[in-house]
Amino acid sequence: MGAQRHVAVLIGSLRKGSYTRMIANELIAIAPGTLAFEIVEIGNLPLYNQDFDDQKAPPTEWVAFRDRIRPMDAVMFVTPEYNRSVPGVLKNAIDVGSRPYGHSVWDKKPGVVISVSPGAIGGFGANHHLRQMLVFLNVPAMQQPEAYIGNAAKLLDSNGKLTSDTTRQFLRTIMDAFAAWVERNVPTPSHA
Ligand code: FNR
Repeated sequence: MGAQRHVAVLIGSLRKGSYTRMIANELIAIAPGTLAFEIVEIGNLPLYNQDFDDQKAPPTEWVAFRDRIRPMDAVMFVTPEYNRSVPGVLKNAIDVGSRPYGHSVWDKKPGVVISVSPGAIGGFGANHHLRQMLVFLNVPAMQQPEAYIGNAAKLLDSNGKLTSDTTRQFLRTIMDAFAAWVERNVPTPSHA
């Protein structure tokens, strides 16, 4: 087995009972041991305003966030869909990490996008709007298997655990593929 790869996990919902966070936790639990995950919280990040970077006086929360993401090997986005797109809180975190110009913390980090919704379409719109950003950010995003987790409320029990072995197997397939994707695309040696 090779060295562990460090994966930042960004969750696009701040809601206490978030289905998205529950799915993220299940993905982390199911993933192969070659991946080490850290959930990086994004709810405290002030809204992006370029003036602070231009004046070289970014808020401490931005600095801490950028410093936390920069040394990671890869990134996993788990997001709900708001109005057929990415929730503003996640867009803001992506914008904060992408600047100052030329110093994006996302550059070249292999990524995966998993969208979650209680609805039937599984957050397809959010998933693909996020993928559009990742093209520009130079994040090689895993194409297959695609992960649109629909009917999320029915897939989870009151403790946030998966109720279906079929779903568990699907999530395992995603994470196995992501582990292989990270190995193939990671640009830097691991921390370990
Ligand atoms: C939603 N929701 C939603 N769902 C969906 O499948 N497609 C959509 O476009 C939207 N749009 C939307 C907009 C806004 C502003 C809110 C607050 C909600 C419903 C959404 O999927 C639901 O609230 C989920 O429970 C959100 O995910 P978490 O918080 O459970 O992770």
